[in-house]
Amino acid sequence: MRSSTIQKGLILLLFCVSCTQNTTIDNQEGENIYVNPDALSFSNEHRAKMLRITYLNLGYTFPADEDMKEILEAADEDAAQLAYEEAIDTLLESGVMHTRMLDYFLKMLGVGNKYSGTAQARYPANLGAYVFINNLAIDEFLTADYAIDDNQNVVSQTYAGGPPTSDQAGYITMEAYTQKYMNTRFMMKMIREIFGLNLNAKAPFAGVTMYRWDENTINPKYTEQPDNETRCIACHAAMNPARGAFHRYMGAYNTYTTSPTQSTNQYGQEDDSGGGSFVLEPLSGGSALSVSQAAQYYKIEEDGIELHTPKDLANALIVHPNFSKAWTERFLTIMLNIDEGSPGQGNVVPNHFSSNEAEELFLEHWAEVFESVGRKPNAFFKAFLKSKTYLVTGANPTDS
Ligand code: HEC
Repeated sequence: MRSSTIQKGLILLLFCVSCTQNTTIDNQEGENIYVNPDALSFSNEHRAKMLRITYLNLGYTFPADEDMKEILEAADEDAAQLAYEEAIDTLLESGVMHTRMLDYFLKMLGVGNKYSGTAQARYPANLGAYVFINNLAIDEFLTADYAIDDNQNVVSQTYAGGPPTSDQAGYITMEAYTQKYMNTRFMMKMIREIFGLNLNAKAPFAGVTMYRWDENTINPKYTEQPDNETRCIACHAAMNPARGAFHRYMGAYNTYTTSPTQSTNQYGQEDDSGGGSFVLEPLSGGSALSVSQAAQYYKIEEDGIELHTPKDLANALIVHPNFSKAWTERFLTIMLNIDEGSPGQGNVVPNHFSSNEAEELFLEHWAEVFESVGRKPNAFFKAFLKSKTYLVTGANPTDS
């Protein structure tokens, strides 16, 4: 059985699998084998092996001996699949997954540490793990007006100088997160992080549906750079329209106000020392707009909602066409044990399913499945891990 040596190659090559489509698998000898994964059969040994791999990858533990035995001794393939599926359910319904998901969100958010620091710094990552363990929709990660502590209990995320409950938006408004990424004069780091994680996109957001400001609207500093070849507007035309969501933070993460006035740090945050109304943005006919006039320019989609608060941004993101796809891809990276990216520390987002049409179809198909299970990560894991698409990533089917 050469499966272990070719596993990595298969994982990379199998992204063209889609349930109704044939796929190309490189058998490592330069030949392509065309298969429809639904038509494949797998041995009991193969299913048992996949169960072990899955437990180790996701639960950091071995499956129960009885579960392995039941698969290995199954009378036929249906019985083996049934036993395999039951063991997958056991894994996903147990608390064992908590550590893996906590690790994922700690890494992706770049906030909190499992072994040191405050419990409050782990609230954001704990919310992600909580959403998974409790089979909630991923939307809750952005819209929850509560936090989750180390004991997986619901606690308040309210802090002195922070947003009121009505404006709280999941991990985005938690103190440790805003404290790390907020620069109230600019807000671009917040935007970078949030777009990176939830849209799987980084500036200049090629291929992402984004509302963009035109040159007449944006601060001239992004268009007039006489000594600089960089076209600032390529990225900032898409990023600046989102930062209105944070304009109620008046000077820092702990200076939130529900009644903002246009002055320093208001819709033109970065220009508070620039003087002269013309440098404020957005502009109309060269003049700065009032807060209420400007509001319509702060959104992430052409017909999207205005962004007055972080909660508005959360609500705009969960209906953005890239949101579901982004999380589908993220969860696939966990299950397939491939590069997850590191938006918490830079701008690296996973990008595994875009090299050709078949890969795009693969992602589209699984994004549909993700939608069909209510965008619940836990249910999505079950669907994918039980599929033949997943089973075939572990070995060359012709070996089985
Ligand atoms: C390739 C895309 C891109 C281009 C081009 C670009 N920026 Fe940015 N800019 C970003 C991103 C992403 C951030 C978020 C901060 C980060 O990456 O750490 C940012 C942040 C900023 C910030 C805020 C810094 C902060 O601490 O939040 C300012 C101000 C800014 N850019 C101005 C400019 C100007 C002026 C230009 C042109 C000379 C420019 N940018 C060109 C993507 C870009």
